[in-house]
Amino acid sequence: MTELVRKPAELRRACEDARRSSARVGLVPTMGALHEGHFSLMDEARKRADFLAVTIFVNPLQFGAGEDLERYPRTLESDLDGCRERKVDLVFAPETGSMYPDGFQTEVSVAEISKPLEGEFRPAHFAGVTTVVAKLFNLTGPCTAVFGRKDFQQWRVLSRMARDLDMPVEVVGCPIVREPDGLALSSRNRFLSPSERERALGIVSGLRAAHDAWQDGERDPVRLRAWAEQPVRSGFERVDYVAVVDPETLLAPVEPPGRLLVAVAAHLGSTRLIDNVVLGEDSRP
Ligand code: PAJ
Repeated sequence: MTELVRKPAELRRACEDARRSSARVGLVPTMGALHEGHFSLMDEARKRADFLAVTIFVNPLQFGAGEDLERYPRTLESDLDGCRERKVDLVFAPETGSMYPDGFQTEVSVAEISKPLEGEFRPAHFAGVTTVVAKLFNLTGPCTAVFGRKDFQQWRVLSRMARDLDMPVEVVGCPIVREPDGLALSSRNRFLSPSERERALGIVSGLRAAHDAWQDGERDPVRLRAWAEQPVRSGFERVDYVAVVDPETLLAPVEPPGRLLVAVAAHLGSTRLIDNVVLGEDSRP
């Protein structure tokens, strides 16, 4: 049975009850519009926990001015069906006012690793993410919290937060789930017109080109970036970044690179897509 709760106090109580009966609590935070990427995180959390809590909350704190907060898809009924199928124990879908009541003024932020890549183009984004996830950790007290490497930097920022603040939770990062043609699943893909959907594959071609060059022995970050950039630019109208960085620091790599993160963010019409691959670790996208 999947229980739906709306109030933070109800989430806290249900997780306390679970812990009292010695269940390990697993947490999968989401903003809803669930797809196979989200469900893969639930499957992973299930393996590591006895009581699985999923949260569905479009967190206004992490959206900047002019971003897509208003049009972000909200599909609670079908999300609940998906959670029931996965035998999720508890779904928490709060109202904004119960997460951020009048007078709310506290922010949790992670300094350095929040700054490059997404941080450069969405300056307040990660403080919004870390603040809401810190609240969710405090409410649920999870042993394990599972995130996707689709949002690679988010996973690194949240791991850093848990470590720095001694939060007793294992932060797990799961592989990116893709469509058969390689496009990473995203709640925002539904906004792509048929022609944009085709051009979106420019990101996948870019990541593949960098991956293939790495397989052929290329280790120079500048040349790897050039391999990735060309196909992205040919598909996308506006490119925020194509970056090749150290996957630990998210900064320019210090020689010699054992692994490299290739990360891309780009716009098609009013839709912004992100994707990445870790060279030396991930299989071909
Ligand atoms: P959301 O975009 O709904 O994503 C929820 C989780 O699903 C994140 O950990 C994200 O990385 C993961 N995910 C999304 N698409 C994926 C894919 N194709 N393969 C694997 N994992 C995928 O990320 C957020 O929500 C929010 O920032 C949140 C952490 C919930 C805080 O508000």
